[in-house]
Amino acid sequence: EAAEKGGYEHFMLKEIHEQPKVVRDTIHSVLQNGKISFESVGLTDEEMRNIQQIYIVACGSAYHVGMAAQYVLEELTSLQVRVELASEFRYRTMTLAKNSLAIIISQSGETADSLAALRLCKEKGVKTLGIVNVVGSSIAREADDVFYTLAGPEISVATTKAYSCQLVAAYLLAMQFAKARGEITEERFAALAADIETIPEKIQRILEDKERLQWFASKIVNIKDAFFIGRGIDYAIGMEGSLKLKEISYIHSEAYAAGELKHGPISLIEDGTVVFSVVTQSALYEKTISNMVEVKSRGAKLFGLTTYGNYAMEDTADFTVYIPKIDNLFAGSLSVIPLQLLSYYVSVGKGFDVDKPRNLAKSVTVE
Ligand code: G6P
Repeated sequence: EAAEKGGYEHFMLKEIHEQPKVVRDTIHSVLQNGKISFESVGLTDEEMRNIQQIYIVACGSAYHVGMAAQYVLEELTSLQVRVELASEFRYRTMTLAKNSLAIIISQSGETADSLAALRLCKEKGVKTLGIVNVVGSSIAREADDVFYTLAGPEISVATTKAYSCQLVAAYLLAMQFAKARGEITEERFAALAADIETIPEKIQRILEDKERLQWFASKIVNIKDAFFIGRGIDYAIGMEGSLKLKEISYIHSEAYAAGELKHGPISLIEDGTVVFSVVTQSALYEKTISNMVEVKSRGAKLFGLTTYGNYAMEDTADFTVYIPKIDNLFAGSLSVIPLQLLSYYVSVGKGFDVDKPRNLAKSVTVE
């Protein structure tokens, strides 16, 4: 097993470090020389032009990818997008729109609820696309089309590299939808194609600065509760950061859309409560900062995660982590990395079994 871990103490840390490579591989599986080809996936440009409604259905972290993907699809295309938890979607009475596409996101391709949702969509005549990591898995076999993420085998129960690959797969899908439908200019498409290529090296840069996060993690090992706030894509990333923290460090954690704080959770903020704020979306920057100020005035200890250049963050946050500059749509691929590292180090600091957290399974094949 030590050999399989490639010199890392845990599979999770190894998989976190594999992200630059597997994200690059996944991008290049469909993007080459500035052009996206979905020949290997199957979905044609003509089908993309005819689709009006997208349902993204998934569980756990894959659902969080869907949340982020929704913002990207809505920004780049005129498509209607709904993101659904598979375990809810399958038991709801819901008229599915004509000309719709169901995208099932799943690392294992075996999650019982996601598979049942896929089958339901097929029964209702809805076209299905799987974003799947495990080749030949049930979802991969049964979906009409498959976009394989090239994360390779993921051992750690808490997903990192598969999540990151799913995220870039979703960006590429959104870009191609926009292109096929004539909803993006050549210039914007070219700029996005160039920018998406920079994700792997920027993830690498964040990984090189991990010691600072390790230090911060050591300060918070004893906290009982944590909150993650953000807006838009930052909210989706906060949901993933919060799940990671609770999964492996057993700290109670909640992610909230920053604007919802006032509708409840602010009552839980007291002296020393740790609040993680993800602030990468420039149009929402001031709004989230004002929410940070609100919790700070109630004693919160603030962790700010933002893009290089937004140095004013340090006026409000107690500890700031910067990610390299990138198109706002792709910022989630970078901001999730410090959050993965942080939960990893907190779990290690508490002496827990990082790769096999209690009560959790890598793939949930029962209902
Ligand atoms: C489990 C795993 C999560 C994963 C979820 C969905 O809860 O621990 O990491 O996100 O299942 O799994 P899937 O294989 O469908 O992506």
